Amino acid sequence: MSSQTLKKSLVVVGGTGFLGKRICQAAVAAGWQVTSVSRYGKLKSLPTGPPTQNSWISQVNWVSADVFNKESLAPQLRNADAVVHSMGVLFEKDKYKDVINAPVSGKAIANSMKSFISSCFSSSAKAANPLNQTLDSSRASSTVEPNDHNRTYNKVNRDSAILLANTFAEENATKGNEEVEQQARKPFVYISAEYTSPMIPSGYIQSKRQAEDTIARIPSLRPILVRPGFMYDKYDGVNTHEPHTVRHYLGGIIEAQYNVSKTLGLDMAIGAKPTLAVQDVANAVVEALNDSSIEGVVSLAALKEFSR
Ligand SMILES: NC(=O)c1ccc[n+]([C@@H]2O[C@H](COP(=O)([O-])OP(=O)(O)OC[C@H]3O[C@@H](n4cnc5c(N)ncnc54)[C@H](OP(=O)(O)O)[C@@H]3O)[C@@H](O)[C@H]2O)c1
Repeated sequence: MSSQTLKKSLVVVGGTGFLGKRICQAAVAAGWQVTSVSRYGKLKSLPTGPPTQNSWISQVNWVSADVFNKESLAPQLRNADAVVHSMGVLFEKDKYKDVINAPVSGKAIANSMKSFISSCFSSSAKAANPLNQTLDSSRASSTVEPNDHNRTYNKVNRDSAILLANTFAEENATKGNEEVEQQARKPFVYISAEYTSPMIPSGYIQSKRQAEDTIARIPSLRPILVRPGFMYDKYDGVNTHEPHTVRHYLGGIIEAQYNVSKTLGLDMAIGAKPTLAVQDVANAVVEALNDSSIEGVVSLAALKEFSR
């Protein structure tokens, strides 16, 4: 048997995303056979960092499929040893991701921060004004654009993950033998989130907790519920000719707020939380896949401890 056939297989749904691609990279480095699933399929741009570190890209099987299309998804999951769900929206408006990941320099920083904040909150700010409240309070707190009804917290953060976990369990069911299934539980990683700030919409955290609860009850899976806070890329603006992104500056502000409040002993009182490097979170995910004693919630504090 060649060493290739001995490799365990991992499917990362959202494998081209900010975190997903780093999970693919870390898993390849740890000897997994990796398949990435996303609607576009391929990486949209090369990851930041030294180009010499990009040899893992050719070792990933880049597949184009929609998580909501069970027909195209199921064959990818058949006989997989582990699955990661790494897709979600922090704000239901879609523009914020383009803004936060855009490179920015010099005087443009303040404007970019402003446009990031308005891309997140422009509709919700209106809804928060009692004069703008409608009778339907769920619509009033929503930021969904008229044509964007598919991009809700419940659909993207919760339903896609439950569908993926159930399909993975179904595709790998050992017919009629629940005891065998229970003993050979396969790891399923759900990238959830820690509550880190009152700026985080409650619908985001609720959808994450509901998905966690449901996934944790699927008997044939080993649930790993990873809760990062704000993540930055270690290579953002380093070793490239690109300036830093808006995310880099925002992360700097959040980390500074955490450090100052910790020094003053106020971090617990105001709930300030540290940021994490996306590479460290990816390594922690792969560590959890490999360690059968790890299951349940992996908190931000545990992730921070792992990264030391
Ligand atoms: N970024 C942070 O700081 C942060 C902090 C805490 C928690 N998180 C959580 O971490 C997870 C990953 O976040 P991220 O920032 O890496 O997200 P991201 O960069 O937006 O990546 C999302 C990925 O999911 C894919 N995707 C979206 N819809 C899909 C669908 N219907 N079918 C298949 N693939 C689909 C996207 O590719 P296509 O568009 O091509 O399909 C992309 O690969 C999320 O659950 C998020 O809530 C992130």
